[in-house]
Amino acid sequence: MRKTMLAALVVVLTAAPGIPAPPSDAQVRARVDALVAQMTLEEKVGQLTQAGGISFGGGPGPEEALRKGGAGSVLWVNDTKRFNALQKIAVEESRLKIPILYGLDVIHGYRTIFPIPLGMASSWDPSVHERAAEVAAREARAAGIHWTFAPMLDIARDARWGRIAEGAGEDPYLGAAMAAAQVRGFQGPYLGAPDRLLACAKHFAAYGAADGGRDYDPVYVSEGQLRNVFFPPFAAAVAAGVGSFMAAYMDLNDVPAAANAWLLRDVLRGEWGFPGFVVSDAFAVRNLLAQGFAREAKDVAARALVAGLDMDMASGTFAQHLVALVKQGTLEEAQIDRAVRRVLSVKVQLGLFEAPYADEVRAASVLADPQHGAEARRAAQRSMVLLRNEKKLLPLPQSLTNVAVIGPLADSKADTEGSWMVFGHVPAAVTVLEGVKARLKSARVTHAPGPEIRREVPSFFDDFVPGPKKPAQTKEQAEAAFQQALETARGADLVIAVMGELANMSGEAASRSSLDLPGRQEELLRAVVALGKPVVLVLIGGRPLSITWASENVPAILEAWQPGTEGGRAVADVLFGDVNPGGKLPVTFPRNAGHAPLYYARNLTHQPEGSRQYRSRYWDGPTTPLYPFGYGLSYTTFAYSNLKLGAPQLRLGAAVTVSVDVTNTGAIAGDEVAQLYVHQKAGSDSRPARELKGFKRVSLKPGETQTLTFPLGPDELRYWSTSQKRWLQEAAAFDVWVGGDSTAALHADLSVVP
Ligand code: BGC
Repeated sequence: MRKTMLAALVVVLTAAPGIPAPPSDAQVRARVDALVAQMTLEEKVGQLTQAGGISFGGGPGPEEALRKGGAGSVLWVNDTKRFNALQKIAVEESRLKIPILYGLDVIHGYRTIFPIPLGMASSWDPSVHERAAEVAAREARAAGIHWTFAPMLDIARDARWGRIAEGAGEDPYLGAAMAAAQVRGFQGPYLGAPDRLLACAKHFAAYGAADGGRDYDPVYVSEGQLRNVFFPPFAAAVAAGVGSFMAAYMDLNDVPAAANAWLLRDVLRGEWGFPGFVVSDAFAVRNLLAQGFAREAKDVAARALVAGLDMDMASGTFAQHLVALVKQGTLEEAQIDRAVRRVLSVKVQLGLFEAPYADEVRAASVLADPQHGAEARRAAQRSMVLLRNEKKLLPLPQSLTNVAVIGPLADSKADTEGSWMVFGHVPAAVTVLEGVKARLKSARVTHAPGPEIRREVPSFFDDFVPGPKKPAQTKEQAEAAFQQALETARGADLVIAVMGELANMSGEAASRSSLDLPGRQEELLRAVVALGKPVVLVLIGGRPLSITWASENVPAILEAWQPGTEGGRAVADVLFGDVNPGGKLPVTFPRNAGHAPLYYARNLTHQPEGSRQYRSRYWDGPTTPLYPFGYGLSYTTFAYSNLKLGAPQLRLGAAVTVSVDVTNTGAIAGDEVAQLYVHQKAGSDSRPARELKGFKRVSLKPGETQTLTFPLGPDELRYWSTSQKRWLQEAAAFDVWVGGDSTAALHADLSVVP
């Protein structure tokens, strides 16, 4: 009887449409072996070719290639009907009927947009980021996408680099936690889990360290820096089971990442045991020619493949040259087979052979799920960082009757959602103006955007934004807009200035040489503050800005990042005190662009700053940041006490528990992110003055104390030594601090003994 029930259950489970059970490794291997045995060399190269669903420069669409088995993956399509039509060609008209793997950049949401990743990292709550990725996966998968080019795991310590918006900021420990969370969220418990996507850890590696913060510029970082700083999020993604990697565009120490055998073969596969496949960045294989790495396209194809790159994104270089290279004997077919196996294994694991098509009816209902909006609102609330709050200006009273909401970002749906929308996305965010109006239903809420802001050099990506392009404002129009915003502010009792950067001012190819508020925003802010009214500055944007003047003159400042679909509502929730902000900065705020790269985990020097003679490294101002890493205020206050180590001495290889009491010393409930930092005082190499090695976000009622514990052991205390060329944990003395940001003062000594 039990047997029959079990059999029935198995039938039900396996019969459920689109829910294949995960195949075993042996099943995957057998299926891949059987396919590879039947494939022609041309079909094999096809699986290593990713074709653009839109063509740049008016070339043909992917249909013909798919029919011949000449493309294994398609990107830049976002239309469920077209997905199904193209898939039909692959699974019904191609000889071996191998389904297409659809890839798209689903970065911080598909239909429901969550805060940008830098904002999500500000939550210091990996579970929120995991859930955001899960919702994004559910929507995108329903629409027909299998594979997202996310998460972006590049550590970014230079705010001039526009792609700082797409990652978790400057710190490897926080970055690793957010990396693992996103992989879990996108992929679920196993590759091919229902309603999930294949994730792609990108851009391997150190893309964020571009010289001068200039996107795509070469990167020069030592092996020690790579292993201690830039690799940990990628290693965490591998440990979390990420199924694919994307190689970065730029030269890493003079070898392009896309053809870097040390990165792709030795480290990624050799040391970390990554079993998935590696895709290039868009057009990167062909662009190795432009980079000056080789003189002929056939050479770059061969060198990239041999270095460990499996799939050519959109450049067609593998498709054009690999077959001939094998036939001439430059490459062995076995080298192609290895890459093909990796790609096909992932396709089998994803269950594409069983469920190649998207269900359009189901897609519509998944995309309309109201629960997703609620999750995006919660994520946005948790991502906001309160930077300043003089005389408790915030939270605002509900009794306000006359408020002006000004600034170029106050009522822009597209900029509230932020950078990296999927193709064809129609911005639908609730703006800050709308959020405030909804809150103050019977009050007078006025609005004026002030002068427009725009990039001085237009973005390549602007061409993909639907709709006519607005001509630039003339000087006279801008002046009229300035005066109108000032008059609007003058007529109100309180002003909310929503300022920062447009969506296209951060992200790819969006580096800056200044970190000031663009355009005339600061001028307007100064004029409004001079009116003598209370002013709240809400920052919308994708990078830390050097708001030095505002940090001394505007009483309340809230960093909202690009908060997504529910952004305006979430900002209002925080401004009016329904939600007590608890986010913390995942990046250091420099005082100006000349300070970049600026990060907290710097090594000590022979002349520590702060002494009388060496107050600052700069003679024209302080070296200290405007706001330190980990910083963020709350409407309540917290105190730390009783920092204790389980034992003052620790044997090499053993672990100790650090405990600390955190108390809410104010009158309302709030969240605090307790952060643990360590410093190895001496050893084989110099070590950073502080490194984050633990954090916890906790909610505390007024007067409540919680005792938090953190493990400190070999994982937290080891590092890759440049002088020894290996990982080391040393018998040494350590400083330990716990507190609310990277300047935490509560200290204990730890000594590790042999
Ligand atoms: C970006 C990648 C992205 C790819 C595909 C490239 O320009 O660098 O991050 O995944 O395009 O759209």
